[in-house]
Amino acid sequence: MMNKKYLTIAIPKGRLGDESIEMLKKIGYARPVNLKSRKLVFIDEKQKIKYMIVKSIDVMTYVNQGVADIGIVGKDNILEEELEVYELSNLSFGYCKFVIAGFKDSKHHLQDERLRVATKYPNMTAKYFNEKNQKIEIIKLNGSVELAPLVGLSDVIADIVETGGTLKANGLEIIEEMYDLSAKLISNRVSYRFNFEKINDLIKKLNQVMEDVSNDENNRKRS
Ligand code: PRP
Repeated sequence: MMNKKYLTIAIPKGRLGDESIEMLKKIGYARPVNLKSRKLVFIDEKQKIKYMIVKSIDVMTYVNQGVADIGIVGKDNILEEELEVYELSNLSFGYCKFVIAGFKDSKHHLQDERLRVATKYPNMTAKYFNEKNQKIEIIKLNGSVELAPLVGLSDVIADIVETGGTLKANGLEIIEEMYDLSAKLISNRVSYRFNFEKINDLIKKLNQVMEDVSNDENNRKRS
């Protein structure tokens, strides 16, 4: 794991992937990466960086195992996986909320004994309801969670909402907001020590580009 030739970065597929690559390209990284191709590994020989394209939820596993030194991941996956990685940086994209959603009248049933909650995030959901001392039944799904209340598989869902489009298209609404989430840069704990300079250089550049973007936005608002 240590003393490797390349710094290895795990990039999530899907909606976080595009924004990750866009931000990395702005600071001169990820040059060879093309998310439209079916290739899963891209090597930048000049910078000695290897990019691995993995399913969002698996970024945690690759980084925790040290196969990837660092990775970009949603806070939802960090909370769900409960693995020991360093959270190095808040990234200014991937903003969303983790919510309970359902039909309008499910508000009145939220405290019901054995509330049936469908979710891709069983750990986060269990923790939230445990803290409220409420016993619920968790129905673990892997996607299209919004379908569950529509067909009577669950009373409500616990899921992430970004634009709200999926809820709306399925006649559901937010019943309760649980956590605000966004993308994070994470690192394997050992890799961080062995690649300290390279990783910190990347963090500095990321922080700089985020600061520039936020200054630009503020200037635009003022003018
Ligand atoms: C996520 C999430 C919601 C949707 C929310 O699913 O689980 O279903 O996005 O986004 P919105 O508020 O912008 O509509 P994803 O699209 O990743 O697909 P999945 O159902 O296959 O997990």
